[in-house]
Amino acid sequence: MAIVKLKSKPKVAFITGITGQDGSYLCEILLENGYEVHGLVRPSAQRQQSLSRPLRDGVTLHAGDMCDLGSLIQILSSIQDIGEIYHLAGQSHVGLSFQMPLSTSDTNALGTLRVLEAMRILNLDKTTRFYNAGTSELYGCDMPAPQTEETPFYPVSPYATAKQFQYWTTVNFRDAYGFHASNGILFNHESPRRGTTFVTRKITSQVALIACGLSESFELGNLNAVRDWGHAKDYMRGVHLILQQPEPGDYILASGTAYSVRQFVEAAFQIIGVNIEWSGTGLDEVGIDSVTSKVRVRVNRKYYRTLENETLLGSAAKAKRVLGWQPKYTFRALVEEMVLSDIRAVRSGRIFAHTPLDLD
Ligand code: GDD
Repeated sequence: MAIVKLKSKPKVAFITGITGQDGSYLCEILLENGYEVHGLVRPSAQRQQSLSRPLRDGVTLHAGDMCDLGSLIQILSSIQDIGEIYHLAGQSHVGLSFQMPLSTSDTNALGTLRVLEAMRILNLDKTTRFYNAGTSELYGCDMPAPQTEETPFYPVSPYATAKQFQYWTTVNFRDAYGFHASNGILFNHESPRRGTTFVTRKITSQVALIACGLSESFELGNLNAVRDWGHAKDYMRGVHLILQQPEPGDYILASGTAYSVRQFVEAAFQIIGVNIEWSGTGLDEVGIDSVTSKVRVRVNRKYYRTLENETLLGSAAKAKRVLGWQPKYTFRALVEEMVLSDIRAVRSGRIFAHTPLDLD
């Protein structure tokens, strides 16, 4: 007797922020797992470069905006059997949020409420799981390290206060309306797809320009800031696992290791065989090539934050225990991948001189 195998229907997911670093990695993971993927794209956004052409062919993009409830309702109601919503969209630059607190809150805080409200209006609460992109920026200064899911929040930027609203709104929809709604509290996660306004990619792209003889030096802000840096690809695997749990919950994803911006600079230069020595203090500090004595890094006050969370270090013990999540990249492997990728980008003309605006 012939056995007829019925093809199971693919899972359907919707990603807000699909064109960003995280959205593009998550999209790849979902496609590898056989999902039908839909993504939200702002019509004005020209930031689809992270979604390479073959990937874009495999997903359905919908034009919409986090500030427009109507478009969110229209899009979500047009997607059949939507099972998972990954809400990653938002204004993600902490420094910029001090200049644009209102629009940051509208997009991030109210934007999240709009997605959840659209789900509630469309009765998706019983059928669709929701993931909110939380952040280590929820924690305040001088918190005991490592931070865990139990560490109290004390946001110190407009970005972080908006994220606090997102976090608790997600919890509230879970408690009040019974949503399968979860938060990821992600510590800094980087990759060659990171924007150049974030410090890691700013450093690796500048080191690549120096390695290729196209630049002499670059400027940074607070070299003492300490961050827990992991690879976005690892973290998006974790995000996917969070929504596969039978019960919703809140999870930290972190590497559990922390380095200063100064150490990141040293590590990036090491990849191109340059040893950096530091001289001076505060705004007068410079990073010097120990062999040629050329100044490669300077400090500029304009890259300092109005208020700064100096040290962040996370414990992903819960995610490891419950989700079985384990990051694969080491700090050194992350830095190497980013520097080598940027050197290839410079050589192929994809990175050239930056405008001052790029160098946030
Ligand atoms: N961007 C930037 N540019 N940061 C600098 C610079 C500079 O020239 N010089 C020093 N820094 C310091 C910042 O003050 C901060 O302490 C640290 O480098 C990291 O800055 P960013 O790379 O901009 O990231 P972030 O930590 O503020 O926030 C990122 O990670 C969060 C946690 O995952 C963003 O991706 C957030 O959206 C995210 O929530």
